Amino acid sequence: MGIRLENLVVKFGDFKAINDVTLQIPKGKLVSLLGPSGSGKSTTLFTISGIHKPHSGKIFFGDRDVTGLEPEQLGIGLVFQNYALYPHMTVRENILFPLRNLKWDKVKAEERVLEVAKIVKIQDQLDKKPAQLSGGQQQRVAIARAIAKNPDILLLDEPLSNLDTKLRVETRQEIRRIQKETGVTAIFVTHDQEEAMSISDEIVLMKDGAIQQISSPSDIYMNPVNKFVASFIGSPEMNFIDIAINDGKCTIDSLTIDNLPKNMTKATLGFRAEDLEVATEGLKTKVMTVEILGRERLLTLEHQGRTYKMLVDKEFYVNEGEELIVKPKTGKSYVFDAESEAFVTKC
Ligand SMILES: Nc1ncnc2c1ncn2[C@@H]1O[C@H](COP(=O)(O)OP(=O)(O)O)[C@@H](O)[C@H]1O
Ligand SMILES: [Mg+2]
Repeated sequence: MGIRLENLVVKFGDFKAINDVTLQIPKGKLVSLLGPSGSGKSTTLFTISGIHKPHSGKIFFGDRDVTGLEPEQLGIGLVFQNYALYPHMTVRENILFPLRNLKWDKVKAEERVLEVAKIVKIQDQLDKKPAQLSGGQQQRVAIARAIAKNPDILLLDEPLSNLDTKLRVETRQEIRRIQKETGVTAIFVTHDQEEAMSISDEIVLMKDGAIQQISSPSDIYMNPVNKFVASFIGSPEMNFIDIAINDGKCTIDSLTIDNLPKNMTKATLGFRAEDLEVATEGLKTKVMTVEILGRERLLTLEHQGRTYKMLVDKEFYVNEGEELIVKPKTGKSYVFDAESEAFVTKC
């Protein structure tokens, strides 16, 4: 079942935590709500799940207007970061719990527990108590409990935050597999752009309670609509330099860029670490640090009091303290408006 938010506004007192959010999530897709802390991701999710009530706007599940309904009326699955399992119950009893509440037939409910336990691969753990499981297994039990009643919609709020890095990567792949296997429509909240990039059909990037961009992972990386999106997506963060434009040209040290918009006098140029190259004419930088990442090396370069990140091949040898002349590869720089920070063109 698809989800549609129309002009959603959620207030706490006078404060608009969600400011006019309109969004459509197609049936069977996994969409991430991504953004920095306080950007309104959880509030959006809590409002969709009926825990918070919107000040204005509408929420639709399929064609059904569910605005203002209570969580119990919605039949959705919820998984939270700290959605604690009942510690005194076994895994089996934990997964059974919501089905008992829904007065499922006992035999059917037992069968369903086995079914979902298999989907999340904890079928051997059913008689254990949560404390006997690893963090990753516990989170799988939470997911099993959330999907047991066969919800059309699954909402996950930072479900992996309590896990260590390796487990986080494994578990996010598991969530994606389970989501595809069950065909459930899922909203996945995270502040981790890499996590969002790796599992989403679409990313909704939020800031200050408003949507900045809705795009596929590759598109949001390649075509950010503004400087905020460009800086939030990708690691290391995109490099930025403020430039003055004269008749479509700008000069930085020995580098002249000449295909800039003629109607602009200043702008911010953005370029990613992998899109810098060594040049004879370019920015005269000093190598501050060389980090060996394995496949590549990450250089931190200093130029006129600012630092830039550059990714180079692991075979590229340079020492800290050396001078390096670099330039953004042609066509790989983003021009942002100096005032509005909106994307203008690539150059
Ligand atoms: N119950 C609440 N009462 C008052 N303010 C809240 C409440 N919940 C969230 N907020 C505020 O709303 C904004 C969005 O919060 P939240 O949705 O939790 O952000 P996120 O999940 O993106 O970190 C924040 O400024 C937060 O302080
Ligand atoms: Mg949150």
